[in-house]
Amino acid sequence: MLVILKRDDEESSRQAAQLIASAVRKKPTLTLGLATGVTMLGVYKHLVRLHKEGSLDFSRVVTFNLDEYLGLSPSHPQSFHHFMRENFFAHVNMASQNIHIPDGTIRGNYDEYCAGYEEAIRKAGGIDVQLLGIGRNGHIGFNEPTSSIGSRTRLKVLSQETLDDNSKSFTPGDQSPRCAITMGIGTILEARKILLLATGTAKAAAVAKSIEGPITSAVSASALQLHPEVTFIIDDAAASQLTQRDYYHRVLEMTALLTPERLS
Ligand code: GLP
Repeated sequence: MLVILKRDDEESSRQAAQLIASAVRKKPTLTLGLATGVTMLGVYKHLVRLHKEGSLDFSRVVTFNLDEYLGLSPSHPQSFHHFMRENFFAHVNMASQNIHIPDGTIRGNYDEYCAGYEEAIRKAGGIDVQLLGIGRNGHIGFNEPTSSIGSRTRLKVLSQETLDDNSKSFTPGDQSPRCAITMGIGTILEARKILLLATGTAKAAAVAKSIEGPITSAVSASALQLHPEVTFIIDDAAASQLTQRDYYHRVLEMTALLTPERLS
């Protein structure tokens, strides 16, 4: 696990975008797992900038989003489809057939639909780089506390903490979705590389538990400790409850000297 400590949200998202950009340049047919949320806005902004500057081609990149709210159509302004279109896909040269986001409008046979999503990931050769945010309760995707570490893409009931967080972005009075379709923790752990970005004090406790706490289904992101190639990019505020910050800084200095490609 590599912990990259950055000063603020701007520096963190720039670093995450840089790592994704170099992965795309190394492998133009990269399969990229994507995330939504406020934390990701800066990452997409920088990726769009690099594309517009002419140095980043997404034409052969394949993407799989982590999750979508159940009951929201792709055109709903709070859907993750809408988020991805507005903040990323509309501004880069992705081929529409290469974009995959769980369908929030499915009804009935959820298991069959979710198995199909997993199959599509497999057919694409698996996810090369998975981008993740983290919820205040330590969730990744919508894998709420107590999600099985081996879980696969499925229908998931959202926790009260997540409902409270989500309600801020829905119109007051409107009920925000109670469920979502999300990749499982087991699905996420199969990605070849994982990049988790966390910024702001609200994430500090979840970040500390995920990196320095025990592996437990009570904190879904702690399962990332099982993965051999995880990079956390964390700003000062989100890193404030980590106890080993000096060590992470030393590791970073040595990484820059010995294996600089891991940071660019
Ligand atoms: C939602 C998404 C997660 C994301 C989290 C954090 O719950 N399902 O994938 O990591 O929000 O969002 P934000 O970056 O807005 O704090």
